[in-house]
Amino acid sequence: KARVGVLLSGRGSNFLALAEACRRGEVPAEIVLVVSNRPEAPGLAKAQELGVPTVAIPSKGLAREEHEKHLLAALHQAQVDWVCLAGYMRLLSPQFVAAFPNRILNIHPALLPAFPGLDAQRQAWEYGVKVSGCTVHLVDAGCDSGPIVVQRVVEVRDDDTPETLAARILEQEHIAYPQALRLLLTRRWHIEGRRVVFAREA
Ligand code: GAR
Repeated sequence: KARVGVLLSGRGSNFLALAEACRRGEVPAEIVLVVSNRPEAPGLAKAQELGVPTVAIPSKGLAREEHEKHLLAALHQAQVDWVCLAGYMRLLSPQFVAAFPNRILNIHPALLPAFPGLDAQRQAWEYGVKVSGCTVHLVDAGCDSGPIVVQRVVEVRDDDTPETLAARILEQEHIAYPQALRLLLTRRWHIEGRRVVFAREA
């Protein structure tokens, strides 16, 4: 079983979706640590309720390298081999990314490469796109720029607000994230250029 560390900053619903999928045996992984850069993140309390080890490593007032040194120490101590960003609202440095090459996943609430960055659901709504969705991708040194593993599409309705659109995208996120992790852990794959290529199933 893969040992997964989850980094989050907020609500933690994607963490819960991953934890549930692991518990049901749909993903051959165990979440061995949840780390938040915000001690008050509701996602930390949710992890504690499930009995998952948690640690708060506040980023406030710390330089990025300093903060990440603590993050890496916690992840290594827990012998994490995969890192899942689940609403983690800080950019990781190239050095951090290099510590887990192609072993960091992120979920983004838009169809990348459209609408990277913050508040992606609102960006998509304001732009007037007719479909949006979510993307699970491997993390590289850029912002929301790594190789894509899974995308799921959501139609934008005429009567949507950014909030109603975000809610329907979130439902798809909760499917996409376990699906992506499952694929990466159960199939043979490699990266060709920017593309994640899965071997045919035997
Ligand atoms: C999710 O919508 C996730 O896609 C988004 O934050 C939310 C976290 O929700 N992530 C980003 O925007 C990353 N830039 P959650 O805490 O309930 O999982």
